[in-house]
Amino acid sequence: MAHLSQNQDGAEPTPGEGPGSAFAAVRIATHASEDAAAFRDRVMDVWATTFDLVRDVEDWRSTIWERHRAREDYRLVTAESDGVLVGFAWGYTGRPGQFWSDFVLRTLGAAAAPWVGGHFEFVELAVDPGSQGRGIGGLLHDAMLEGLPHDRALLGTTDDADAPTYSLYRSRGWQVIGSQAPGDVVMGKRLTR
Ligand SMILES: CC(C)(COP(=O)(O)OP(=O)(O)OC[C@H]1O[C@@H](n2cnc3c(N)ncnc32)[C@H](O)[C@@H]1OP(=O)(O)O)[C@@H](O)C(=O)NCCC(=O)NCCS
Repeated sequence: MAHLSQNQDGAEPTPGEGPGSAFAAVRIATHASEDAAAFRDRVMDVWATTFDLVRDVEDWRSTIWERHRAREDYRLVTAESDGVLVGFAWGYTGRPGQFWSDFVLRTLGAAAAPWVGGHFEFVELAVDPGSQGRGIGGLLHDAMLEGLPHDRALLGTTDDADAPTYSLYRSRGWQVIGSQAPGDVVMGKRLTR
């Protein structure tokens, strides 16, 4: 299996490694679009436990999974524990003409203009509830941004400062750019190459 970045298994400490650990070691790997295809159903299973049940499987596959997987610079990062997928993240290059890019430009106006178009879009990040709080989300985040050629990244998330997702992004240098809808914020991060 070809990875965009080196499989981190054993390359750095991962949650649960070491004698007496209650958890199995977690294997973080980054996959280009073609290799990501094999993860479709397992990603959907983690999606269902983390976000919500996928009621229309065919719609999810075509409008979310395949459409995103076809985008420029797509990458999927996976976290596996004992061969079981416990978390994932994906992203791609965002361009005007895509739904979210256009939505952000329309709703944030001038504040978004320097950010949107050619940015890396950090689209999804999820860790199965049974595996949360072990550092896996942070590892997925860091692997997602590793080695990107982009100079900036964008994402949308909750504006709830107490939510794990908000605090994860803020602690990793993401800045709030604005709000495109009640309860949501757009965050941006300058990337150093
Ligand atoms: C957000 C999410 C991916 C974090 O995954 P995780 O494996 O639990 O996160 P980690 O254990 O790696 O913690 C990473 C950071 O998250 C924050 N965090 C984690 N759990 C938290 C909690 N219960 N309360 C507040 N902050 C928390 C901390 O800032 C932590 O920072 P640290 O790395 O300095 O310790 C996970 O909670 C999740 O899947 N949530 C539901 C889906 C979601 O909201 N996805 C994001 C959509 S934009």
